[in-house]
Amino acid sequence: MALKKIGVMTTGGDAPGMNPAIRAVVRCALSRKLEVLGIFRGWWGLINEEVKVLDHRGVSGIINQGGTILKTARSREFKTAKGQERAFNTIKKFGIDALVVIGGNGSFSAAHEFYKRYKVPCVGIPASIDNDVNGVDVTIGADTAINTALAAIDNIRDTATSMERIFVVEVMGRDSGYIALKVALGGGCEGVVIPERKFDLEKTCHDIVNGNLIGKMSWIIVVAEGAASAKDIAEKITEMTSLETRAVVLGHVQRGGRPSAFSRDLALRLGRAAVESLIDGQADKAVALNGGKFSLVDFEVAIQKKDFEVDYLLSLIKELT
Ligand code: F6P
Repeated sequence: MALKKIGVMTTGGDAPGMNPAIRAVVRCALSRKLEVLGIFRGWWGLINEEVKVLDHRGVSGIINQGGTILKTARSREFKTAKGQERAFNTIKKFGIDALVVIGGNGSFSAAHEFYKRYKVPCVGIPASIDNDVNGVDVTIGADTAINTALAAIDNIRDTATSMERIFVVEVMGRDSGYIALKVALGGGCEGVVIPERKFDLEKTCHDIVNGNLIGKMSWIIVVAEGAASAKDIAEKITEMTSLETRAVVLGHVQRGGRPSAFSRDLALRLGRAAVESLIDGQADKAVALNGGKFSLVDFEVAIQKKDFEVDYLLSLIKELT
């Protein structure tokens, strides 16, 4: 069946670069004579018929904006058979032939289930600050979030050095230590706590005490939120070393802001690749730019626990501390 109309949505946690991705999907689809419907608030919008025609001008002025003009949400209802049936009814009612889903691994799990049940062709564009999509080098938004967190760490470094203090900084990443590792590396931090590996707090406290003896008085330990809370780690360090600590939680600051040049570039390339993939008859896959080459990653693979260079990054941080 020839493709005539596609739907595009953003789902799950927003990521800087979703807007340029929407822009690329809409404009590439239009230039290939496809109609585009924007689906608002992700799967929830598909269930509740929150759709609107998107035209060329409708995506003007968003290339440099964080967040997503389509809004986003996490839908519990879509996990049920009833929810998916309602979503499929919307697909039929509005004559949507295929979907572009911009989101992370949770979004792709949902898209995979929907595809298995209703065979609506769906191609995913990986966008998540956590960079937690397996088989994909890097997701849209991760670079921006890392730069945002790094700018904060640099500021904290100034006060940590001046007041000779220990800081514990919590970054985002419920199941992934990617942001924590990249920030700890780029920020020259002395320790990193991530969900993927055990953290030896006793050894870190030992290093801090020994460091103080030779004049190293300021430390920054980065914690991924899924591994521990900054407050707990800071309290334990004070308990074990009798040294003053401060805990900082960066939180949702990391999710917003103007997409970096890298996040925009990736979003624009992947937006076009997604439309071309649907035209080629692809489905149930995410587009990716791996090693500088476009590839398609089966949703089945993309939703597995991401395999990335955790041990390499840890060893590099350790060696350079
Ligand atoms: O989008 C990913 C993420 O930012 C995770 O790093 C974080 O744990 C989670 O979303 C926070 O979700 P919410 O915005 O719903 O609190």
